[in-house]
Amino acid sequence: AINIEKLRALTGLITLDSGYKNTGSCKSAITFLDGERGILRYRGYNIEDLAANAEFLEVAYLLIFGELPTAEEYDHFKKTIHKYTIVHEDMRHIIDGFPRSAHPMGVLSSATSALTAFNPVPVNVKCNKDVYQAVCKAIAKFTIIATWVYRKREGLPLNYYKNSTGYIENILRLFFEIPSEEYSINPTIVSALNKLLILHGDHEQNCSTSTVRLVGSSEAGLFASISSGVSALWGRLHGGANQAVIEMLEEIKADGGDVDKFINKAKDKNDPFRLMGFGHRVYKNFDPRAKIIKKAADDVLHALGIDDPIFDIAKHLEKVALEDDYFKSRNLYPNVDFYSGIIYKALGMHLEMFTVLFAIGRLPGWIAQWKEMRQGGEPIGRPRQIYTGAKERAFVALDKR
Ligand code: ACO
Repeated sequence: AINIEKLRALTGLITLDSGYKNTGSCKSAITFLDGERGILRYRGYNIEDLAANAEFLEVAYLLIFGELPTAEEYDHFKKTIHKYTIVHEDMRHIIDGFPRSAHPMGVLSSATSALTAFNPVPVNVKCNKDVYQAVCKAIAKFTIIATWVYRKREGLPLNYYKNSTGYIENILRLFFEIPSEEYSINPTIVSALNKLLILHGDHEQNCSTSTVRLVGSSEAGLFASISSGVSALWGRLHGGANQAVIEMLEEIKADGGDVDKFINKAKDKNDPFRLMGFGHRVYKNFDPRAKIIKKAADDVLHALGIDDPIFDIAKHLEKVALEDDYFKSRNLYPNVDFYSGIIYKALGMHLEMFTVLFAIGRLPGWIAQWKEMRQGGEPIGRPRQIYTGAKERAFVALDKR
C-alpha cells in the first residue's frame, strides 16, 4: 500500500478535487449507493423493502447498530428513547428567545447546539452502554426540539411527548395538537411520514453527513456535530431544496403554469435559475427515493381529498424535463426533494419547516456516521489546499500604505 504521507514528502504533490467529486473521505459499512443503477441500501437492505415494511425507529436502529433489531431489542430501544423525552425547561426559554420570524433551520441548529450545555459530559465512545444512551438521548431530544421550533413559529404552546403513543404519531401530535381541541391521527399520514423519514435516513457522505463526521472528528460533542449537520442541510443545494421546489412550483403556477418557459430558463447558462429538485451529485439515473415519494404524494393527496394543482405541475415538469435533451444528456432526474414538499404541504406544514422534517429523518444517519467514525478511531479530518496567494512580502507600516 502507498504511504500517502511519505509520497507527499517525496513529491510535494497534493490531490485537488474541488467539491470532492471523486474523493473518498472514509470507509463506511452503513449505506450503499449505486448512482448509475439507482440503487440505495441501508446495511444491505434495499430502500424499497425498508420503506414498504419497516418502522422509522427500526430503521434508525439498523443504521446506527448495523442489524435490524429483534422484538426485544426494539422494545428496549423505544423505551430508552422514551426515558429521555423530557427536555430541560430552560431549553424552552432559549427557543422562546428567538423572533417568530427566524428561519426554523437556524433555530433548530442553535437549539441543538444549546443541548450540549445541558449534556456537558462527553460520550465515552469506547463504552457501548454510554454510546447507546447518547444515541437514544439524541433521537428523543432532537425530535422534540424540532417540533418546538414549529410551535414557536406558529405562536402555539409547546407540546410534550406521550410515551403511550408511537414515535410518528407523537411527531404529528407535537406539531399539530391544540390543547383545547380533539386531535385524531390519520393512519395514511402516519404511513406517509414514516416512509418519508425512512427515505431520508442516510445517504452516505453527502454535504451534511460529511460535515457531521468532520466536526465530530475533532472530538466535538455529539450535539455539536449534529448541529453542524443541520446548518449544512439548510442550504438550497442540499436539504433546503424541498422548500425551494415548492417555491418554484408556486412561481410556475402564478405565472400561468407555463412549464416550458421554466425548463428553458433552467437550460439557459446566462440565467442562474436551476430546476430545483432535479439533479444529484451521485445519481445519474432515477433517484429510487423520488419514485417512492411520488407514489406516497399521490396516496396522501387522494386519502385527504386534496386536489393540489402544484402536484400536476410537478408531474408535467418531470415529464417534459425527462424528454428534453439538456436534462437527458446530463442525466438529470428528480431527486428526493422533488415530491417530498408536496406531502409536507398536504400535512399542513409551513414551507420553512420542510427542511426540519428532512433533518428529523436524517438524524439516525448522522448519528450512525458519527458513531462509526468515532468508534473506528478515524483521525481528525483536515484537508489540504493548493495555495494561490501572494509570495513572501515585507510588512509595510500603516503610515506607509
Ligand atoms: N437544473 C438545470 N441544470 C442543472 C441542474 C438543475 N437542477 N442540476 C445540474 N445541472 C447542470 C449543470 O448546470 C451542469 O451543466 P454543464 O455541464 O452544462 O455545466 C451539469 O448539469 C452538472 O451539474 P453540476 O452542478 O456540475 O452537478 P453537481 O453534482 O455539482 O450538483 C446538485 C448537484 C447541487 C444537486 C445540482 O444538480 C443542483 O443544483 N440541483 C438543484 C438543487 C437540488 O435539487 N438539490 C437537492 C439535491 S438532493 C439532496 O441534497 C437531498
